[in-house]
Formats: sequence, structure tokens, C-alpha cells
Amino acid sequence: MKIKRKHLLISLYLLFTMSATASQVEVLHWWTSGGELDALSELQEKVEETGNTWLDVAIAGGGGNSALTVLRSRAVSGNPPTAALIKGPNIQEWAKLGFLTSLDDIAKREKWDEILPEFIKPIMQYQGHYVAVPVNIHRINWLWLNQAIFNQAKITIPTDLNELIAALPQLEAAGYLPIAHTSEPWADAILFESISLSVLGAEQYKQAFVDLNPQVLSSPAMINAFAKLRAMSLYIDKNAKNRTWEQSTKLLINDQAAIQIMGDWVAGKLLQEKQSLNTKIRCIQFPGSEGAFSYNVDSFAFFKLKSVSSEVKQAQKTLASIILTPELQRDFNARKGSLPIINTMDKSDFNACTLQAYADYQQAKLDNTLVPTFAQAMATTTYVQSAITRVISSFIYDKSISNETAVVQLTNAIKAAQ
Ligand code: GAL
Repeated sequence: MKIKRKHLLISLYLLFTMSATASQVEVLHWWTSGGELDALSELQEKVEETGNTWLDVAIAGGGGNSALTVLRSRAVSGNPPTAALIKGPNIQEWAKLGFLTSLDDIAKREKWDEILPEFIKPIMQYQGHYVAVPVNIHRINWLWLNQAIFNQAKITIPTDLNELIAALPQLEAAGYLPIAHTSEPWADAILFESISLSVLGAEQYKQAFVDLNPQVLSSPAMINAFAKLRAMSLYIDKNAKNRTWEQSTKLLINDQAAIQIMGDWVAGKLLQEKQSLNTKIRCIQFPGSEGAFSYNVDSFAFFKLKSVSSEVKQAQKTLASIILTPELQRDFNARKGSLPIINTMDKSDFNACTLQAYADYQQAKLDNTLVPTFAQAMATTTYVQSAITRVISSFIYDKSISNETAVVQLTNAIKAAQ
């Protein structure tokens, strides 16, 4: 991709103004798998090019539960990192507790108000002040499938949820693992998110998981969504509980499993594995959810630091500045499998799945079918999100829970968490 002259000048500016005050940045995150690490190394390199050093605090676990637990204990004991991967309304929760620092000076200088998509700005701000910087847009409602397996089993690509469910026993009969699932609460939630988006549609999905409307939460459509989840959960194998999302992707690559239901960080993994995208392993919109786009915005929140040294503070600002530069946006997102935040980026180098995500994202904005992911903590508070996730996981692994009971549990759990 070409880098515009203006962008080059900004980078040179960063390099010269920031390198005079080199220090260390400590960054807490949960990006520990292939693709994620490759993408993050782009940020690390660009920070180190400014003369600052990078202290990596990586806590494994897709979805970030363990990382956020460590972050909480560090922050309350007065030792927060420079920045941490925090998303959605959780940014507000941290800011409200007084932990985050204002980035308004950088935001003003670098015109974040002009660069950032409208719907992302309020997520990054607390009481009108920027406290976090977004790095990408991931899409959740994808289905990854091994085309060679579908060909071999003579199954056509499912175009709706019923066809998808009908394909599962056929794939099993053909000797394949139908679904490469990861039995972790956040991945269970992703499975139900795609199903509910397919069954409810974007509008009712928002009413249920953003507005938390009790009528929609307890509606026949929601009971139906649980019925579909039950049908799919029968094909989750026992080994899923010892399998990371990345190992699930490997099962697709190795022609052992037919499908994976997961966000497009899978594309990052496929690229790291030197797979050409959308050929053998294809990305299709989760059947029945076509047109809707469930978004997950990775962002770094910046902490008030104990140190008063100007070097330390300057290094923190350097990190914040780099995230929205065109170079970082291009290099990071090319490896992460996500869309850049900056809309003016050259699209010619996008891989096939990112290109499709980009077109769908633009269309969803026009159609008002862009929805925040609840599974990945963009739709509600962390309390409500955990409550929803607990109901989903217990339903998946306890087959005695009926669809109707699950819906009652969902409604009650959300009410109690609000
Ligand atoms: C998400 C994060 C993604 C991704 C995934 C799996 O929470 O937003 O960027 O990598 O976890 O680790």
C-alpha cells in the first residue's frame, strides 16, 4: 500500500519529537497466538523505532478474562501498566473509577475527531475526554469452513441456519469433526451470538443485547435461538475443552474439522500459517446473519501512571500516537485479520476475507445493521456480559436445561446484573 506524503511527515514528526525522551512502555494484553503476536510485533517495533522500550505483559486466554483479572489486581495495588487492551463499556468502567488518563492533547493534535468513525468515538471517551485509542475493527459473525471437506462429503455450502445444522451429521458421517469448537465461556458466547443474530436479525439483536429489553429476551424468537444452539451443541466434542481457538483453526487447516465459528482473528492465524484466504478455508457470513455485522473494536486504554517523570509520560503519549498512524494501521491489521480504523487506507492489499468484511461493514452502516458484539464485551457492561455468558455456557454443557428455562435464566440473570 502506498503511504501518503502527509502520513510520512506525521511519522517523521513522531520519530523526532518522541525519541528525545526515550523511556519504557508497559503494555498488558492477551494476544499470545499466531497472527495476534505478529500484529502486535508491528506496534512493538514502531514503538522501539522511537527509542522507547517495550515491556510486554501478555496473559494468555482468548477473550481476555485472565488478562483483565491481572489488570484489576495491578491497578488496585497502584501499579497499572502504561496501557492495556480494554474494550467497549469496560473503558468507561475503568475511567469512572479514576484510573485512566486523558489523551485529549494528542487527539486534538492528530485530529481523532475527524479520523475516527462516529460510532467509535464515544466508546473511546469518558465525559467527553479521550482515554483510549482503537486499533482495529474485527467482525464476529463469520463462519470459517474447509471447502475441501465440504466437497469431499458432497455437501453444499449452507445458506441458512437450518442447512448448517443439517450439514453437521453429514459431516460427521463423512468422518470429520463437524465443529472445531473451543469450550471456553467467551467462545461459547460467540457461538450463541452468531446464532442469535441469525435468528433474531439485527434489530431484535440490539433490542435484546444492547437495550436488554425483557420482552425480546423472553420472546419465542429467543427460545428458538436456544433451540438452534442446542442443535449445534450436540456436535461439540469432548476435546473442545482442551482446545484453544487457534488449535481449532489448525484442525480446519489440517482437514480434520469442517467449520469454526469465530471472529476474524482466524484470518490472522491463517495468514501466519501461510494459507491463502478464502480458497481452501473459506470465510462466509454466518448463515442467516448476512448483511448484519457484529463488531469488536480492539482498543488500548491509557492509565494514570505513578511515575511523574516526563520521559515516562512522553513514552505513553508516543504509544498512543503510533496506534492511529497509517503505517501501524496498515501493518497491524494486515496481520491481525481486522479492518483498519482509518477509512482512507488503500484497500488493494486487503486479503479476500478482509475485503469482504470491508464491503459488508460499509453496507451494514448504511442499512443500520452494524451491531456491537455482546460476546466480546462491546454491547453491555462487563457484569451483564458475564451474566449472559454464564447462562449460555451452562446451557451448552448441561443438556437437561430446556430452551424455555434458558430464556428465563437469561432474563433473570440480566436483570440481576443491571
Ligand atoms: C478478543 C480480541 C481479539 C482476539 C480474540 C482472541 O477479545 O478482541 O482481538 O484476538 O480475543 O484472542
